[in-house]
Amino acid sequence: KESDVRVYETIDSTNTEAKRLLNSENLSNFTVLVSDEQTAGRGRRGKTFKSPKGTGVYFSIVFFPKEDFSYNSFDLVTIKAAVSIVKAIEKTTDKKPEIKWVNDIFLNHKKICGILTEADIDFESKKVHSIVTGIGINFTTEFIDELSPIAGSLYAENLLRSELVAEVINEFYKALYYKPDEEILSEYKSHSLLLGRYVNFELNGTKYEAIAKDINEKGNLIVQTDDSKLMTLSSGEVSVRGQ
Ligand code: BTN
Repeated sequence: KESDVRVYETIDSTNTEAKRLLNSENLSNFTVLVSDEQTAGRGRRGKTFKSPKGTGVYFSIVFFPKEDFSYNSFDLVTIKAAVSIVKAIEKTTDKKPEIKWVNDIFLNHKKICGILTEADIDFESKKVHSIVTGIGINFTTEFIDELSPIAGSLYAENLLRSELVAEVINEFYKALYYKPDEEILSEYKSHSLLLGRYVNFELNGTKYEAIAKDINEKGNLIVQTDDSKLMTLSSGEVSVRGQ
């Protein structure tokens, strides 16, 4: 059985709920959990993700990867989600969102959406049992002046949240099951906020500055330092600041 939708008025976190459901029942592949509000929304690196009612849409997609899914291609799942979100926004509005590697969607220099991909992995067999991709989009149909200096919002008067979510889900399904990775990566790169710019990052306690050059087939960021050294960054290892 493919796909199922669960709708919540309020929940602690759709990702957390997805994990609870995975432990208690047999979910269909591509089950979607959508909530109007989250009381304990989670971001990456243990951060909280503010998820108030009325100014956003919060959802998680649960899927079961095929046998050959490599557990080091998580960045690619997030990249597929990011591409799906920008495509969905471009399809339903006249906005031109950009992607900040690896998982943030920006509009007018402010973050409007975050993605949190989590997986249930058996490290011994390297088998990935399930993946939960959670997406939170700050979205309003009424203009709210300056949510905060860093957090922005997608403001689209005549857009239903259901249309936006449906479009993202549709695009994500295509990205996961039909589109070649090369196509996804080229769409990702064409929306990239970092490529060609200097980035600051920290790796194993050392701070670096380098130019973002490319995104490789695994979704890693390739950077070049001023002494021409190339480095490959995976999202799990570094935090990139500034632009
Ligand atoms: C980030 O920006 O660090 C990632 C934010 C991810 C937020 C979404 S909202 C739906 C899903 N449930 C959560 O608790 N987090 C993700």
